[in-house]
Amino acid sequence: MKIGLLGFGVVGRGVYDITSELDNMQVAKVVCLEDVSLPDAEVTRDIQSVLDDPTIDTVVEAMGGVGAAYKFVRAAIEAGKNIVTSNKALVCSFYDELLPLAQSKGVQFRCTAAVGGGIGWLSELERSRRVQPIMQVGGIMNGTCNYILDSMTRLGLGYDEALKQAQSLGYAEAKPATDVEGIDTWHKVILSSNIAFGVSLDTTTVPVAGISAITAEDVAAFNARGYICKLISTGKRKDGKYSAYVQPTLVKPGQPEAAVPSNYNLITLVGKYSGRMSFFGQGAGRYPTAYNVVQDCADVIAGKGFYCEYGPKVAAVNDDKMTYYVRGDRDAWLSEHTADTWGEAVITKPVSVSDMHAWLKTHPGAFIAALSDDAL
Ligand code: HSE
Repeated sequence: MKIGLLGFGVVGRGVYDITSELDNMQVAKVVCLEDVSLPDAEVTRDIQSVLDDPTIDTVVEAMGGVGAAYKFVRAAIEAGKNIVTSNKALVCSFYDELLPLAQSKGVQFRCTAAVGGGIGWLSELERSRRVQPIMQVGGIMNGTCNYILDSMTRLGLGYDEALKQAQSLGYAEAKPATDVEGIDTWHKVILSSNIAFGVSLDTTTVPVAGISAITAEDVAAFNARGYICKLISTGKRKDGKYSAYVQPTLVKPGQPEAAVPSNYNLITLVGKYSGRMSFFGQGAGRYPTAYNVVQDCADVIAGKGFYCEYGPKVAAVNDDKMTYYVRGDRDAWLSEHTADTWGEAVITKPVSVSDMHAWLKTHPGAFIAALSDDAL
């Protein structure tokens, strides 16, 4: 396999390093803006030279973002190149366009590193769905958020200090808001649900609450009551209906999610025959992520394409009822739905996920966390 590599940042450099040790694939050209010189690959700023090169069969996109990356990936599919990408924002945002295009052009499209970094989550989901219906997917999918929450809970770090550390370790996205507002997790659970259930979720029906408003006082209140806060994603299918959402969730020490340290992810599926199966590993970082990009290249060599057929558009209906920790303006709705108070915050009566998230949208500085006996 001859690879045209787009981007030479955290992941791109890792892909170059790992493929350098393999005999069956080679990075032939690198398209990037950085001033690098490589002994065995041409470095260029000109994507067209990759598209026009008939010896390059596969484009690995490791640029990030959805502007230039979208343009280049689309052009590469049109030019008949296989695509391997770790870019969840790209795949999630252009799912309805890029997947059918790749299938109609007969090129392979893989994105295993897009969810779970180094964990073979999407490739295992692909295997699992071959022999059983999947009812549920989700869990801890963002290394940066887990790093911040874990550092605040176990080490007593402040939010800003923990975020800075995650950035310096290369876990955070270029715009950290993407991580801490839950958008990265949102992309990942939508993509996982699409593959697990063989659908294309209407992204406007999937609500997300992030962790950027959490304070040391919130964490102290959780610690005092034996809870640990994690950012948890959920995608479910039941009786032909779908639900999907992302929200901070308070788990008890006995739950598997509670024990997930540092930048690790714990991603779970619930299948008809397998029951619950969880996948644990490095969810971010150069080599873990690059490892799965290179695994996808090996799968492309073996003739593997996307994980499922492109499926129908469906809306998520989030009518599950939960109790929530809410710190924010105690307006009429919140007062009416209050069951208890924890200092300045309230614990709600059971309310639907969609009602709670609709309230949060009109109270942007507030912090919410669902209380759960079963985090997924
Ligand atoms: N920013 C992401 C994370 C990188 O922290 O998990 C991996 O997708």
